[in-house]
Amino acid sequence: MSTRQKTLLFVVPVNWAPLWEGQIAALDPSLKIAVHGRDPYVPEDVDYALSFRPPPGLFKSLPHLKAVFSLGAGVDGFLLDADYPRHVPLARFVNRWLSLEMAQYTVLHTLMHHRQQRAFDGFQRARQWRQGIPQRKTADARVGILGLGEIGQMAGERLRDLGFPVAGWSRTKKHVEGIESFAGDGELKPFLARTDILTCLLPLTPETRGILNADAFAAMPLGAAIINAARGGHLVERDLIAALDSNHLSGATLDVFETEPLPEDNPLWTHPKVTVTPHVAGLTQPKEAADFVIHGIAKVERGETLDNLVDFARGY
Ligand code: NDP
Ligand code: OXD
Repeated sequence: MSTRQKTLLFVVPVNWAPLWEGQIAALDPSLKIAVHGRDPYVPEDVDYALSFRPPPGLFKSLPHLKAVFSLGAGVDGFLLDADYPRHVPLARFVNRWLSLEMAQYTVLHTLMHHRQQRAFDGFQRARQWRQGIPQRKTADARVGILGLGEIGQMAGERLRDLGFPVAGWSRTKKHVEGIESFAGDGELKPFLARTDILTCLLPLTPETRGILNADAFAAMPLGAAIINAARGGHLVERDLIAALDSNHLSGATLDVFETEPLPEDNPLWTHPKVTVTPHVAGLTQPKEAADFVIHGIAKVERGETLDNLVDFARGY
């Protein structure tokens, strides 16, 4: 049996590395950790890699790579790499705490739109005591989740428990108590037509890129609101601004953007109907990530198949 020390290559911005290294080293001090761009390493010696948005072509240059771990639930950053060696398994980060945070974000901003909190913020700034703005009954506020996967289901269940009529859209039909399931391209428009507050929790793939566009907004009821917590590439920003300015949509909450950080001159920063957050809807915690990597490595070393493997053909 080989006793060679195993090497884990960290491919993250160099200033992120210290956050994660200590947690991983604490769980397995025998693992050699090299940070790409900071530490010298021999490509032939790299056994495993941990990353979020790796530079294209890097993994192809590591001939003995046994598995790659994604620091995020979304793996679009890896699939952009046309040279990713597809025989190397890629496991994505699926974690209860991450899903709960994403569900919290969805609930928080669904309630912000439903309870018209931005209007009350404005009244407060103007020192106005105004009670009389119309409020839709919760039982009539139809919530929709694009992507009824790990995160979408958890978010949908929390919203259902708050009394909202909830539906989800996915590739395959789902059977979740109290959540109406729409599936496939043919059921997208009927799903949008019954949705007053929409949250996008889809993976970014060639099929879902630009899905939040003028056609989708036109299919939604007058006064609908949207929340995008998935990827900036899902949204056509100019179509959103047009739908808000024409008053077809009443508001939007955006956590993710085509260009991140959001450039200072992007009109979304100051749009009166838009809430911007800086890609913080769900954060991967270093301790949870360390558990994920160390357990994953142990599985591979035992010859077992990793959990939550990315299906390259499907794109997520
Ligand atoms: P999952 O893979 O568990 O779920 C994805 C869902 O999208 C599934 O229900 C899937 O359908 C559906 N879907 C995929 N492609 C299509 C399609 N073409 N048509 C219809 N439905 C489709 O992912 P997660 O729930 O774990 O994560 C979702 C996304 O959330 C991530 O990819 C990432 O982009 C984003 N994210 C954002 C974060 C942030 O901080 N802003 C943090 C974490 C995640 P089916 O079930 O039938 O396969
Ligand atoms: C993720 C993210 O995909 O943080 O986990 O965006």
